[in-house]
Amino acid sequence: MRRLRRENLRELFWEARLRVEDLIVPIFVDETAKEKKEISSMPDYYRIPLDLVTKEVEECMDLGLRSFILFGIPKKKDEIGSEAYNDHGVVQRAIRMIKENFPKAVVITDVCLCEYTTHGHCGIVKGNEILNDETLEILGKIALSHAKAGADIVAPSGMMDGMVSAIRSALDREGFQNTLIMSYSAKFASNFYSPFREAAESGYKFGDRKSYQMDFHNSNEAMREIELDILEGADIVMVKPALAYLDIIRRVKDSFNIPLTAYNVSGEYSMTKAAIKMGWLSKDIIYEILTAIKRAGADLIITYHAKEIAQII
Ligand code: PBG
Repeated sequence: MRRLRRENLRELFWEARLRVEDLIVPIFVDETAKEKKEISSMPDYYRIPLDLVTKEVEECMDLGLRSFILFGIPKKKDEIGSEAYNDHGVVQRAIRMIKENFPKAVVITDVCLCEYTTHGHCGIVKGNEILNDETLEILGKIALSHAKAGADIVAPSGMMDGMVSAIRSALDREGFQNTLIMSYSAKFASNFYSPFREAAESGYKFGDRKSYQMDFHNSNEAMREIELDILEGADIVMVKPALAYLDIIRRVKDSFNIPLTAYNVSGEYSMTKAAIKMGWLSKDIIYEILTAIKRAGADLIITYHAKEIAQII
């Protein structure tokens, strides 16, 4: 075996290889910000104001990164998240700016209510309940307004049942047959999201997300979620988080023949960055982690490490 590991030969036998093209860069666009604001729970990561979005995308494109997923922090929030489907909302404007300047960029949008609602939940709330079917109609409207602004791919992240088919029909009805859906299909109710909730201002005012996001004790259930989303018309499915869920990624890859994205989430990022900043781990750990996610079976990876790792690979 050691013959295969000789220094000049080793790379010939790499089974998994991280490519810059596989990486998706999350961008937090903040309508309330005048300048870049570092996210305190995510060192070296920023919320950016609308007028700096093009510059951010340009920097990424120069590094070979072409795909972006947009999250909006709106000025106004209400009970039903209506700002999320405002055609002149923060995300819609960001999409237009990116597409005007970089027609080759792949623009993906997170389709959810939590950044836009006063209660911070991913659906319409009645009492303490998060309503499923009432939420679907709004998700359709959000996806449609993103598609109209020029989004290539919409990515529903709210884990409502039927969200993919509701969005598919809303898009098709208006002539957006070519807009793809990347569904956050197997999204677990995870402690790894807490830094994101500061980043996107999407923390909830009561309860938790366990009535809609998946229970981390389960793996078979993730397979059902993926299967349903494929039947509903998803073009790309997702497993989220990534690092503690490599078993799910591998199972999905082995069982379904569809592009798979893994989301290397905020908590995974912050944990890694903290250890590097403390000097406890070398920064090479980032490359190892992302390669492992790829080896587990992910085709695409959403990661806050995209820019720093693009410089290395
Ligand atoms: C919104 C959404 C969340 C994330 C992506 N989209 C937060 C949540 O579900 O609470 C988390 C991403 C991350 O932690 O990096 N529904």
